Amino acid sequence: MPGLWRRTISKELTEVDALLRTQTGSSNEELDEMTRYVFDTHGKHIRPSLCILSFLACGGKDSRDAVAAGAAIEIIHNASLIHDDINDGGTMRRGRRTLHKEYSITKAIVAGDFLLAQGFSILGSSSPAVVDSIVKAASGMAESEFMQDSVERSVDVSEDEYMEIITGKTAMLMMASVSIGASLAGADPKVHDSLVAYTEAVGKAFQIIDDTLDVVGNAELTGKRVGLDILEGKPTLPLILAIRDPKRGPRIKEVFSSPEPSMEDVCEVLALIVETGAVERCKEIASKMVDDAVHYLDVLEASAYKDAFLALSRHMVERDR
Ligand code: IPE
Ligand code: IPE
Ligand code: MG
Ligand code: MG
Ligand code: MG
Repeated sequence: MPGLWRRTISKELTEVDALLRTQTGSSNEELDEMTRYVFDTHGKHIRPSLCILSFLACGGKDSRDAVAAGAAIEIIHNASLIHDDINDGGTMRRGRRTLHKEYSITKAIVAGDFLLAQGFSILGSSSPAVVDSIVKAASGMAESEFMQDSVERSVDVSEDEYMEIITGKTAMLMMASVSIGASLAGADPKVHDSLVAYTEAVGKAFQIIDDTLDVVGNAELTGKRVGLDILEGKPTLPLILAIRDPKRGPRIKEVFSSPEPSMEDVCEVLALIVETGAVERCKEIASKMVDDAVHYLDVLEASAYKDAFLALSRHMVERDR
């Protein structure tokens, strides 16, 4: 049964889906095939949903521009996933082989660039505020990947550093999504800024949950491999909290900081992280983050769209896929 938020904007999401295909075609046969490979699988469409719901919750009427912007953001998101999977050594995405595994790294890099260009071209004719939002988010994503890279296999990463990384790599594109939706609806700057502030919390919470799913997720549901963050040395919140455990911390540190841990050692570490209770604590932190930010939504008048927006943000921290 689809969630309330999905039902509320099902017509708009169908339109987004159509645009994902029509806006990413290429006269080059193989590139065209590759973009179809990407959009044949369906992600959760969180970012277009945030864009369209913020537009509607801010009183926007004709949703055509918000739908087009949502599609553009989803295209940019998919480009970032293609590049992310190359950088992270990801082999599975949405239950299928990643693009670079199915084709090649060289072709996947270029297909990602192509999708970035298509996404930006849709948004290019929008107002300077909209263009500025997406440029800021895409730059933030790139910068935070560098920051993440600089702490690979480090066991000394602070929670603040982690929060800075996840703000850039995940929250900023979601913040841009609601910012663009609100701008297109002509929202008051105070309403716009409150929505963006709320979404910063939700976006960070979303990535914290993603990081717990790397430890305890069901690959059948997430469509991604479990344990990849530990294998690749990405210091995530469950790991940061777990290494403080006096009994299990030393072994977790030893495996995590070793240059090429075996999958067997990684599985051992995943079990140790669970034993420390770090996964449960991460879920509590993510939930509290969203609860503490919910007052930002007081600026929105009561509506079915505001309810759907709230339902979507709850889903983002309670999900298992
Ligand atoms: C995956 O994003 C990348 C992260 C920021 C964790 P999603 O979990 O939104 O991916 P899809 O689009 O639904 O597959
Ligand atoms: C999010 O981080 C990456 C992007 C924002 C592109 P992850 O590297 O954790 O995302 P997944 O787990 O591969 O989807
Ligand atoms: Mg990844
Ligand atoms: Mg990554
Ligand atoms: Mg992840």
